[in-house]
Amino acid sequence: MPALSVFGAQWGDEGKGKLIDLLAREADVVVRYQGGPNAGHTVVVGHEKYVLHLIPSGILNPATVNLIGNGVAVDPMKLLEEIDGLRARGVRVDGGNLRLSALAHVIFEHHRVIDGLSERWRGEGRIGTTGRGIGPCYADKAARVGLRVCDLLEPDLCRSRLRAALAEKNALIERVHGEKPLELDAQLDRYVAIGERLRPFVADAGAEARAAHRAKKRILFEGAQGAMLDIDAGTYPFVTSSNTGANGIAAGACFPPRWVDRVVGIAKAYTTRVGEGPFPTELSDATGERIRKQGNEYGSTTGRPRRCGWFDAVAVRYALDLSGADGWIVTNLDVLTGFPEVSAAVRYRIGSGEVRDWPAQLPSIDAARPVYQSHPGWTEDLTGVRRYEDLPAAARSYVEFLEREVGAPILMISVGPERDQVIQRGRIQPT
Ligand code: GDP
Ligand code: IMO
Ligand code: MG
Repeated sequence: MPALSVFGAQWGDEGKGKLIDLLAREADVVVRYQGGPNAGHTVVVGHEKYVLHLIPSGILNPATVNLIGNGVAVDPMKLLEEIDGLRARGVRVDGGNLRLSALAHVIFEHHRVIDGLSERWRGEGRIGTTGRGIGPCYADKAARVGLRVCDLLEPDLCRSRLRAALAEKNALIERVHGEKPLELDAQLDRYVAIGERLRPFVADAGAEARAAHRAKKRILFEGAQGAMLDIDAGTYPFVTSSNTGANGIAAGACFPPRWVDRVVGIAKAYTTRVGEGPFPTELSDATGERIRKQGNEYGSTTGRPRRCGWFDAVAVRYALDLSGADGWIVTNLDVLTGFPEVSAAVRYRIGSGEVRDWPAQLPSIDAARPVYQSHPGWTEDLTGVRRYEDLPAAARSYVEFLEREVGAPILMISVGPERDQVIQRGRIQPT
């Protein structure tokens, strides 16, 4: 029975939150499997706008169970803030519809502090992280010195492990970075107290996901970030610290890879990126500025202006290939209304040669110059269109051009931030 993976096929912020919320209507379980509060997933329902960071975007569907998998880096303070914020707005969040993996690693205050200090240390070479402690938390996980959600539930164990961790982190903060160390007792008391508040949500999320699959429930995996930020396949070192596509599900949700039977990527009709790192189709001119303005391209988590540029078929082709996607969803098509021409990179020129495949290594990516193909624009407002044949001919022609260049079917088109602002084109759900 069906398990569907939906992930970002660019550098994040493709509109995953909106689509997961929509697709969650046909899911019994929604699972986050990687990333953490670096994510900002926006869901707009009528006049209400929700930005979700750690809680899966299925939470607004009353019948959906939401799992935070073991692969997610969980900042318990942010999680509790998010739970409280949703409850204050009348959204049901309890141990019945939100389940937190006992095996998920915990982001502590020292991770956030060190994230910022390491960025300062890197200076010009900084990554432009969200400052949420993601890299330091995953580094501790890999170094086997991290604490997990289950550890927060055991006060004595939590105190002794956190004391040992902080001794080293405080030395780093003080002696390498020259900053004030964190106060040990305050930290210990805070996290032990937080563990108690989390207790009702804590579960064996992997076992629950597998059991749901066996019970023939519909499972939807919600990717965070985007394929080009993947720690292995992305623009390393300008990436996040997790596997962001369907490739992250098996490890990050303890869910067998062969049980995922449909995979769908999401990409905007243009490209954005926040933070540093290569971005071949970036436009640092009035056109880029116009995309930012029309698309209101400011980070959902940090409020930073997003870098903007034309669609990059080389990158999206690569992203979909990495996850073996069955097709993709194009979002923000409405944002391109009014441009006399819309362009997309179809190949790169590197030195004297041209390539159609993503170059994968940094010096080549930096050297890549996009080869654009431009297309006539349209002036009509698309936000009210619900049927493909009602799109202006130029918009349809652009969609079909993207589909051809990327080489995978476009299954849905999003024409606005609201739930119902979509045009269905192909099958997304598994059969
Ligand atoms: P995510 O991180 O992939 O969930 O994306 P974000 O929420 O960070 O950024 C996407 C932004 O675009 C949000 O403000 C959404 O409300 C908005 N959005 C989503 N789909 C569309 C669309 O089709 N058109 C427009 N104009 N905005 C959209
Ligand atoms: P969603 O899920 C866009 C970027 C940061 C930075 C790099 C590393 O909303 O699409 P990190 O804090 O993860 O160590 O930062 O990754 N980044 C995102 N960019 N959308 C996101 O999430 C992102 N999460 C991280 O800007 O360049
Ligand atoms: Mg986002």
